Amino acid sequence: MLGLLSSNNVSASDLSTNRQITLQEQHGATIFIQRCMLCHGSQGMGEGRIPLKIKPYPNTNIMQSDKAVSVSQIKQIVLDGGTLMDVDHYMPPYKDELNDTEVDNVVAFVASLRKQPRVFLDLLASQQNSQLLNNEQGKTIYETRCILCHGVDADGQGRMAKIIKSPPPYNLRKSRMPKGYLTQIITLGGEPIGRSAQMPPWGDQLSTSEIESVVDYITELRK
Ligand code: HEC
Ligand code: HEC
Repeated sequence: MLGLLSSNNVSASDLSTNRQITLQEQHGATIFIQRCMLCHGSQGMGEGRIPLKIKPYPNTNIMQSDKAVSVSQIKQIVLDGGTLMDVDHYMPPYKDELNDTEVDNVVAFVASLRKQPRVFLDLLASQQNSQLLNNEQGKTIYETRCILCHGVDADGQGRMAKIIKSPPPYNLRKSRMPKGYLTQIITLGGEPIGRSAQMPPWGDQLSTSEIESVVDYITELRK
């Protein structure tokens, strides 16, 4: 009887700490890394890079709820930021930068981070790692397979650009094509999609995730 009770207790506490992380929270963590970490830090404690530089700087510890306690209050601050009367102007308003889903997801992430810091700091760390690895991989692939034509700066001025002229290797920094299109031309090459056959197909040499990482890499360069 006692044994039964204690094993029940264990599974109950496991459930509360090891609950499934939702897709919404995962996506929210990605947004947090890209948009919020610079100020709120990788631990949410306000040890981001910007606060250290600007002094005096308001408290950016997101783990304490000074101003935003409920989910809807967090959402309001993320949407309106410093345009709200009692919020410091260093907190940007995101309503024109993030879409509804992105706002809801990053808000859900912040709420969960406060409730279960250990679980969600782990999530943040592992997502940062995989983003770094992905970036590193994309860069390596670019440098080993693409640089000869598209150039060190991805501006289309690689060595082969002297030979391949009509059309020349694309200036990838100027590309405005969506990721789906980039994936397609990199996988299939130019010819099957009505572009120049001088853009080779990579689908038989690179895996789907390798192609994804090089797509991420070249779209990052646009900014
Ligand atoms: C340029 C720096 C900066 C960035 C980027 C930033 N914040 Fe903030 N944030 C602040 C500052 C400063 C405050 C404190 C405002 C105050 O106390 O008046 C704050 C406060 C907050 C609060 C309220 C905390 C409380 O007191 O309850 C939330 C929630 C928040 N930010 C979420 C976010 C989210 C989510 C993102 C990313 C989408 C983000 N912030 C990006 C600077 C920033
Ligand atoms: C032998 C030269 C060559 C190599 C190597 C090469 N490309 Fe290209 N690439 C081209 C040429 C030429 C074009 C222009 C095709 C056109 O305009 O019809 C092009 C076009 C593209 C485009 C289309 C951009 C747009 O917005 O329309 C992308 C994306 C691209 N290349 C990515 C890559 C990547 C990633 C690699 C490495 C995995 C790579 N290319 C390797 C020659 C090359």
